Amino acid sequence: MGPSIDPLLQVRGLEVTYGSRTALRGVDFEVRPHGSLAVVGESGSGKSTLARAVLGLLPKNAYVKGTITFNGMEVRGGVKDLRTLWGVGMTAIFQDVRSSMDPLMRVGEQIEEVINVREEIVRPRKGQHHGEVLEILHEFGFRDPESVSKRYPHQLSGGERQRAALAMAYALRPLLLVADEPTSNLDLITQAQIIDLIRKMAEMGTSILFITHDLYLASSLTDRTLVLYAGRVMEEGATGEVLERPLHPFTRELISPSTNPLSPPSGIGCPFSPRCPSAFSKCVEVPPIKSVGGRRVGCHLY
Ligand SMILES: Nc1ncnc2c1ncn2[C@@H]1O[C@H](COP(=O)(O)OP(=O)(O)O)[C@@H](O)[C@H]1O
Ligand code: SF4
Ligand SMILES: [Mg+2]
Repeated sequence: MGPSIDPLLQVRGLEVTYGSRTALRGVDFEVRPHGSLAVVGESGSGKSTLARAVLGLLPKNAYVKGTITFNGMEVRGGVKDLRTLWGVGMTAIFQDVRSSMDPLMRVGEQIEEVINVREEIVRPRKGQHHGEVLEILHEFGFRDPESVSKRYPHQLSGGERQRAALAMAYALRPLLLVADEPTSNLDLITQAQIIDLIRKMAEMGTSILFITHDLYLASSLTDRTLVLYAGRVMEEGATGEVLERPLHPFTRELISPSTNPLSPPSGIGCPFSPRCPSAFSKCVEVPPIKSVGGRRVGCHLY
């Protein structure tokens, strides 16, 4: 039998509202086994909402419609913490490392806990996997793994904490890593280290859902890119094509920002219409998403 081509993650008709505010509308996408998808868009476009919906980690005030299927199982909301996700082969890192690491546990203990989940160890013995913990920390760039394993997250620098969070994610050998702006607030050298480590996970076979407002990061890491604006999909396709030859006016704007004032999205028709240089009469209607040369584009020009 050849390798399965079923998507690992499939999202259909995802809509998320917070009270009267709609954060995502009609969002469809897939991530294939060993595939990587960047979700790009401006602040407030719904990227973190999308990440948290996939993880089942949305806050209580979020109302969700549509279906999310991961590895053949439907993802339901109300996941309390990341431990629940480890069991199904999903893990996540966030901009704020406090969301992915326990501040009250030593780094080594946290990595060991992940290994116990991976190995389905029912009655773990403390220190059982200490050797592997040290190896992983070493692989993730820590020159003194023994001392790092004994530290608490707050005793590390921002970049070290993010590397430790990734080491934890890696220890799981997950099917999917969801990374929500993991390099924001880090200096360029540390950013590059983090990107290398995520790439290392991708090379090991982990699928990546990479959330970013930074197109350069999207292009360096992923094979497909989904562009969001005001909670809707504008365009989706192979990363190189989307970023080098954008079809949607919003993607073009992302690549070479204009100096036009940023008007808020329209509530009627195409949300990008107030800012779109190509807007015309038809744009008072919501554009359907069409297939254009292997890409999906939501714009009346196509
Ligand atoms: N917990 C929440 N309660 C109410 N509104 C929220 C909440 N989280 C996000 N939003 C709103 O949903 C929209 C999308 O936010 P978010 O998903 O954080 O976007 P991004 O990550 O692209 O910046 C924004 O308008 C934001 O204000
Ligand atoms: S649908 Fe109209 S307003 Fe929206 S991006 Fe296309 S041309 Fe511009
Ligand atoms: Mg965000």
